[in-house]
Amino acid sequence: MDFLDLAKKRYSVRKYEDKKVESDKLQKILEAGRVAPTGANAQPQRLIVIQENEGLEKLKKGANVHGAQLAIIVCSDHSSTWKRPFDGKDIADIDASIVTDHMMLQATELGLGSIWVCFFDPAVIKKEFNIPDNIEPVNILGIGYSAAPVASSDRHDKQRKPLENTVFYESL
Ligand SMILES: Cc1cc2nc3c(=O)[nH]c(=O)nc-3n(C[C@H](O)[C@H](O)[C@H](O)COP(=O)(O)O)c2cc1C
Repeated sequence: MDFLDLAKKRYSVRKYEDKKVESDKLQKILEAGRVAPTGANAQPQRLIVIQENEGLEKLKKGANVHGAQLAIIVCSDHSSTWKRPFDGKDIADIDASIVTDHMMLQATELGLGSIWVCFFDPAVIKKEFNIPDNIEPVNILGIGYSAAPVASSDRHDKQRKPLENTVFYESL
């Protein structure tokens, strides 16, 4: 599928079938994350894959993935992220988010629904999944078989700002 068609096809799914994601599909999603670019190629992502019911129940204590049967907690290891020398900016969130986006779009290409979640309690997630201090959970990606109505690819005409509101040539 043409990339733009795929990007327009993806939408946030907040209702899922009670059906597990097959391991070959999971592996392809993880591979898409593996090849994502990261600053200085540091690859600080640490992914916690949750597909067992016990783990999904633990996840519910700190996050809502809307019934997705697969969740990936995308973390960044701050001890290996690149820091910009001018101002010390730590690009942990950027790296984790590129990995998340690659996996999300791969899931779409496989016909799976997904939900990107940042509304979670990091303290609870760190405790439940034994995440040490140097590693930050940045995003949680819920993936599964959608039980929600399909969102039209045309919705971007109304739900996204026109380019002239967000793109500026040569100077802001
Ligand atoms: C960084 C980020 C964080 C998000 N966090 C949440 C979240 O915590 N819970 C949720 O239901 N949706 C979350 N979303 C989904 C957005 O609300 C959604 O992508 C946006 O409204 C556009 O809708 P669409 O994904 O259907 O195109 C998040 C999306 C992004 C990119």
